[in-house]
Amino acid sequence: MDAKLKTNILLVDDQPAKLLSYELILAELDETLVKANSATEALQHLLATDFAVVLIDVCMPELDGFELAAMIREHPRFEKVAIIFVSAVQVNEIDLVKGYAAGAVDYVPVPVVPELLRAKVRVFVDLYRKTRQLEALNRELEQRVAERTVELEKANQELERRVDARTREREAALAQVHEMQKLESLGQLTGGVAHDFNNLLMAVITNLDLAKAQVPDNPKLHRLLDGAIAGAERGATLTKRMLAFARRQELKPEIIDVAELVGDMTEMLARSLGPTIQIEANFPPDLPPVEADPNQLELALLNLALNARDAMPLGGELKISSRGETVAANAIPHLAAGDYVCLSVSDTGSGMDEATLKQAAEPFFTTKGLGKGTGLGLSMIDGLAAQSGGTMRLISQVGQGTTVEVWLPRSQQTKSVSAPARILVDDRGSSAFTILVVDDDMMIAEVTAALLEDLDHTVIIANSAADAMEQLRARGDTIDLLLTDHAMPGMTGIELAAKARQDRPELPIILASGYAEIPSGEGLGLFRLAKPYRREELEAGVASVMTEYRRQGSTVDPSGRIDGLKAAGGFGLALRASI
Ligand SMILES: Nc1ncnc2c1ncn2[C@@H]1O[C@H](COP(=O)(O)OP(=O)(O)OP(=O)(O)O)[C@@H](O)[C@H]1O
Ligand SMILES: [Mg+2]
Repeated sequence: MDAKLKTNILLVDDQPAKLLSYELILAELDETLVKANSATEALQHLLATDFAVVLIDVCMPELDGFELAAMIREHPRFEKVAIIFVSAVQVNEIDLVKGYAAGAVDYVPVPVVPELLRAKVRVFVDLYRKTRQLEALNRELEQRVAERTVELEKANQELERRVDARTREREAALAQVHEMQKLESLGQLTGGVAHDFNNLLMAVITNLDLAKAQVPDNPKLHRLLDGAIAGAERGATLTKRMLAFARRQELKPEIIDVAELVGDMTEMLARSLGPTIQIEANFPPDLPPVEADPNQLELALLNLALNARDAMPLGGELKISSRGETVAANAIPHLAAGDYVCLSVSDTGSGMDEATLKQAAEPFFTTKGLGKGTGLGLSMIDGLAAQSGGTMRLISQVGQGTTVEVWLPRSQQTKSVSAPARILVDDRGSSAFTILVVDDDMMIAEVTAALLEDLDHTVIIANSAADAMEQLRARGDTIDLLLTDHAMPGMTGIELAAKARQDRPELPIILASGYAEIPSGEGLGLFRLAKPYRREELEAGVASVMTEYRRQGSTVDPSGRIDGLKAAGGFGLALRASI
């Protein structure tokens, strides 16, 4: 409270002269003096204004001073107001007590000594002022406490909100790590199973092939054998998808013009999707090329188109488009910063709910019912994209259709005419060779030997790289070709090839492998054959290597690399000159 604000002092007396004299005495205090001629008038003033001190004449005609003081005290607002009695008659002890009981705080006897009256009134005015100041300070303090409490509550809420957000972030990160670990172990498991199945299926298919050749004119048996081969081949397709998901499939990356690849496929897609689905392809003219395996990319597109067809049983629209984009670090999950081409396939079908969308790319997840879907379509595409240095993204909502984006790294080279030329093998099987077959899996070694023998070649089997080296050294130049598995205990196929080339730099070598287990760049100019391979693929492989060997004559690079060997694509998927 402002200390300079004047306080009110009420002077109550029935005699105007006395009121005047009090007024004169107290004028020096420089406060506001209010005069009342009667108790009634005094009460009216009290109800309207706040007073620091009330000065009351004890003897008044209508209501004496004691009664007025008692009435004032009864009012809650004036419980604490200072009341000073002025008494003309001599007050005895009893009157004094009566006065204090009525609420008086002090007495001033008559005749009034001005200094005494002023001093007493000043004390109570000061007290009043101090009390008000204290009250104001108190109020201010309370207000500050209230403000601080609100601020603290806000800070608390903010803290709680942040803790909540951090907890949620942590939980989300943990869930993501968990999901990645789950997929990682699923990948390892699937890759392992697929690898073993590949070998088994190779034995099944090869033996069926050989059995078919044994009974040339038995159409009924041929039908049965064809049925068995078709079943085994479906199994082989399945293992290929599993390897793709596990990111362990053999990829043969090439520089691809995506628009051209899709253009070449549209007729086939239109046939697969039927007349109720309209296909629209949209590619900008300056789309950069990508680096990926064209056969696998075609397979991925076909899988996406079939998923779209299944989501649009009553027909609809399939849009295939592409765009080049420069991606910043962390902008797209699982994608490093760099230049990419985003191939996008959209349908106007049923779309997916949140739960389906979350699981769609997991291996073996399908909503298509037993025997209708393997649940490996999207997993294969996801694995292919990741193995090619890109990623796959799914965007879908129930009733809003689905968009699948396949991001592939942009190739730094342009698709040129010098891209691997495919050499047609026209003299395959023109002569018989002595072939050293190396595989730690006896079953595979034997079926391969059986196939080669059926092709009139002479076969020597070795069950390990060490065994193979011994054979090579013992038999010298009588071995025309080395056909080796890669993943073998002790020494890998690549290590064996390097060692063999030390003794015989020109030795033709075919490296057979079930999955992408060979580190890139660690090449010796070897031909590679993907497992499981069929009789025709093996035949073409041997013929290619030997034709090329003969064509090159002895012009062999001292490093051991047979230069100029290009992909022999007679049976495209299985063979390529590599690394
Ligand atoms: N375009 C789409 N629209 C709606 N749902 C889809 C679409 N593509 C995939 N899905 C959902 O994701 C699941 C997994 O798809 P994925 O291609 O991996 O396996 P699938 O199609 O069920 O089996 P397969 O590919 O062997 O035929 C599907 O069963 C389906 O529920
Ligand atoms: Mg599918």
